[in-house]
Amino acid sequence: MEKKRVLIIDDEENMRYMLQLTLESEGYEVEAASNGMEGIKRVHSSHFDFVICDIKMPKVSGLDVLASVIESSPNIPVIMISAFGTIDTAIQAMKQGAYDYVMKPFKQDEILLTLKKAEERERLRLENQFLRQEVERKYRFENIIGKSSQMQEIFRKIEKITNYKSTVLVTGESGTGKELVAKAIHYAGNRKELPFVAVNCGAIPHELLESELFGHVKGAFTGAYTSKPGLILQAHRGTLFLDEIGELPLNLQVKLLRFLQESEIRKVGDTQTLTVDVRVIAATSKNLAKAVEQGAFREDLYYRLNVVPLYLPPLRERREDIALLVRHFLKKYTQELGKNITHIAPESMKVLLGYEWKGNIRELENILERAIVMTEGDTITTEYFPQELLQLPSQIIVNIPEPWISLKDVLKEITHITEKTLITRALKRTENNRTRAAQLLEISHRALMYKLKEYDLSSPEIP
Ligand SMILES: Nc1ncnc2c1ncn2[C@@H]1O[C@H](COP(=O)(O)OP(=O)(O)OP(=O)(O)O)[C@@H](O)[C@H]1O
Ligand SMILES: [Mg+2]
Repeated sequence: MEKKRVLIIDDEENMRYMLQLTLESEGYEVEAASNGMEGIKRVHSSHFDFVICDIKMPKVSGLDVLASVIESSPNIPVIMISAFGTIDTAIQAMKQGAYDYVMKPFKQDEILLTLKKAEERERLRLENQFLRQEVERKYRFENIIGKSSQMQEIFRKIEKITNYKSTVLVTGESGTGKELVAKAIHYAGNRKELPFVAVNCGAIPHELLESELFGHVKGAFTGAYTSKPGLILQAHRGTLFLDEIGELPLNLQVKLLRFLQESEIRKVGDTQTLTVDVRVIAATSKNLAKAVEQGAFREDLYYRLNVVPLYLPPLRERREDIALLVRHFLKKYTQELGKNITHIAPESMKVLLGYEWKGNIRELENILERAIVMTEGDTITTEYFPQELLQLPSQIIVNIPEPWISLKDVLKEITHITEKTLITRALKRTENNRTRAAQLLEISHRALMYKLKEYDLSSPEIP
C-alpha cells in the first residue's frame, strides 16, 4: 500500500524530531517545516494526506497556515498542536475547519490515534464521493436509452428543464421509465447533491398519507408519540417525486395545491406554517385529464402540476429503441450476473422486436434478465422466453416484408406461421407423439401429417 504523507509544521526542533520519528516508525512518510511560511509553500508545491501544525509560531501562526491549507486543499485534514494557554485558539481553529487538536504535552499514541481517526474520515469521505458518483452515473441521461425521435425530443426537453424549479408531470404507461426520467431530471440539475425523495401516493394508505407527506406534531392524533418531519420537509432544497399522483385523495389535493402555490406546509396538528423549497415532479400512468372530467382530480391542481408535461410513449410506438435497449440490458445483466453471453440469436431479436410490450421497458428488462440467468451458452435463444412472447401474432407483423400489401398473401403468411408455431408447440408438449399432438390441435392425424410435410417439420428437432 502507498504510504500516507504527513507534513509537520513546528518551530521547535525537538518537537519536529520526535513527531517525525514516531510517525515514520508507524509507516508514514514525513516531511517537516520549521515555520509557517515554509509549511504553506510545501502544501502548495507537493501532495500531503495530513498536516500537523503547531498553533503558536512566530510570524505566520498556526491559524494562518490552517486558513491557507483550507483554501488551497480543503480536503486535507489539519491537526493542530496546542500548548498550554492556547486552548481557546485551538477551539477557534476547529471552528475554522481544523480536523482536531492535541494538547501539549501529548503521548505518542495520542497523536497516532488522531491520525488514524482522520484517515478513517478521509476513507469515508472518498467512499461517499464514490457512491454519489455512482448514483449520478446511474441516472445520468445517457442511461436513458432511446434513439427514436420521441425519446430524442424527451432528452432535449429534460436538458432544458433540469435547473428550473417548475413542476413536471411525467405521464406514460406502466414501465415506460417515468421514475427513471424523474431521477434523471434531479441528478442532472443543480439540486443533485440534495435529496431526491420518492413517494408512491398509491401505496400509502389514505389515512396515513397526509402525515407522511406533511409530517405531524407530537400528539396530533392517537399514536403520534413524537413529532415527524414529513417527506416534503425531507426533500427541502431537493426534489420530491410524487408517483401515482392520480391516487391522491381529494382532501390532500387541496393541501398539495396550497403547498405548490405558497411553498408552505403545515404539519398535521400544527398551527405554524413552514416555508420549504422543493421541486416537485409528479408521475401518473392514469389519464389525469379524464380524471379531471370525472371529478376525481382537481382541475386547478392538474394545471398547477402540468406546467411542464413529459409524455413517455409506449415501447411499441418506438420500436426502433428495442434493439438498443436489448443491447443495453444484455450488457448490464451479463456484467451484473457475471455471465459470458455475447450474442442474441436473430430469431430471438425478431420476437423481441415484434412483441406488444404491454409492460413496456420493465417487461423487456425482466424477460431479458431471466433469459440471461437461464442461458448456459453464449447466445440468447428463444428457449427461455416466456410463452406469451412466442405467441403470435405480433412477431408476424414485423415479418411482413414492406412491399406486401395483398390481404390474401399476408393472411396466408400469418396462417402459415401460426400453424407452424402451434404444431411445433403441440409436438413439444406431447414429446413428439403425433397422435396426441393432432388431438391437442384438434385436427385429424392425416391433416397433421400433411402439414408436417408442408411446413418441413417431418423430422422436427424437439428438444
Ligand atoms: N429509456 C430507458 N432506458 C433504459 N432503461 C429504462 C428506460 N425506461 C425504463 N427503463 C427501465 O425500466 C424499468 C421501469 O422503469 P420505471 O420504473 O422508471 O417505469 P415507470 O414508468 O415508473 O413504471 P410504473 O408506472 O410501473 O411505475 C426500470 O428498471 C428502468 O430503469
Ligand atoms: Mg414508477
